[in-house]
Amino acid sequence: MRCSVCSKEAILELPVYKKRLCAEHYVQWYYEKTRDFTKKLTRPGDKIALAISGGKDSLALAVFFSQYQREFDVDVFMFHIDLGIPGSSQEARKVVEKFSRDLGMELYVYDLKKELGRSLPEFRKGSRPPCSVCGIIKRYLMNRIPRELGANKLATGHNLDDQVENFFKNWLSQHWDWIAKQKPILPGQGKLLTRIKPLFERTEKENTMYLVAHGYDLPGYKCRYSQPAKWKPIVEMIENEHPGFKLAMIKSIERFDYPVSTQELGECKVCGEPTSQEVCAFCKILGLNK
Ligand code: AMP
Ligand code: FES
Ligand code: ZN
Ligand code: ZN
Repeated sequence: MRCSVCSKEAILELPVYKKRLCAEHYVQWYYEKTRDFTKKLTRPGDKIALAISGGKDSLALAVFFSQYQREFDVDVFMFHIDLGIPGSSQEARKVVEKFSRDLGMELYVYDLKKELGRSLPEFRKGSRPPCSVCGIIKRYLMNRIPRELGANKLATGHNLDDQVENFFKNWLSQHWDWIAKQKPILPGQGKLLTRIKPLFERTEKENTMYLVAHGYDLPGYKCRYSQPAKWKPIVEMIENEHPGFKLAMIKSIERFDYPVSTQELGECKVCGEPTSQEVCAFCKILGLNK
């Protein structure tokens, strides 16, 4: 398989874009595609916290921004939450620290055990799945801590495949307003940071190959609580039959319009963070509502 640009050996084929690319031309293609998308989400002078979990997508996000920040006058830093999950958190943190050193990018690590006295598994209560507690904790910390560190935007590594998976789940549970929030940019208000998803149109495979093309080893750990994705294999089957299906889906999701329930956001009476309730979900998990 030869590169469509220079005829060196290609490292991957992109049927949707009708291209086969070598490592050098793939890096260039990925950067330009993602740059043109990200331009719509950032402004010169932005201070952007990159939420880096240590997974392939968010690591690709960090590598991308190491170049983008030089071209577009934005200031970025990496933000990582060490959840203290046995079998994955320690390794994830090490990888994130390595990328921070390699890219020369500032990193802030929030260590749950150190800061709150408990790691994620110790927050488990009753039958509540750990992932739902984890989601509440991450959403809260990914807003509060970067804001306190001076960020005005938060960028996450959500990729095209995650978004399509979420779309099917939300569609079937009739959460139309959640689909309406599946956008590459969600404007902030008050203490709520603007959230951006620069990899909204990039697939898992594209992100993985971006790291490979840079010569990085791929992280192999997995959170012990992660559930197998239900729709991804089915979506992949359709994609194989009809290349471009996923990209068409994501572009439609981006344009999906539905009146989003606009609850006034107040401030949590315990911690002062934005919430639609009297006490925010995070403070409730910490048991601070009693
Ligand atoms: P997930 O909800 O695990 O699919 O993660 C979605 C995005 O949230 C990732 O791409 C990251 O940008 C961010 N994220 C998830 N976990 C962490 C973490 N432990 N620390 C920092 N950011 C994270
Ligand atoms: Fe949150 Fe697995 S990373 S439960
Ligand atoms: Zn080439
Ligand atoms: Zn609170």
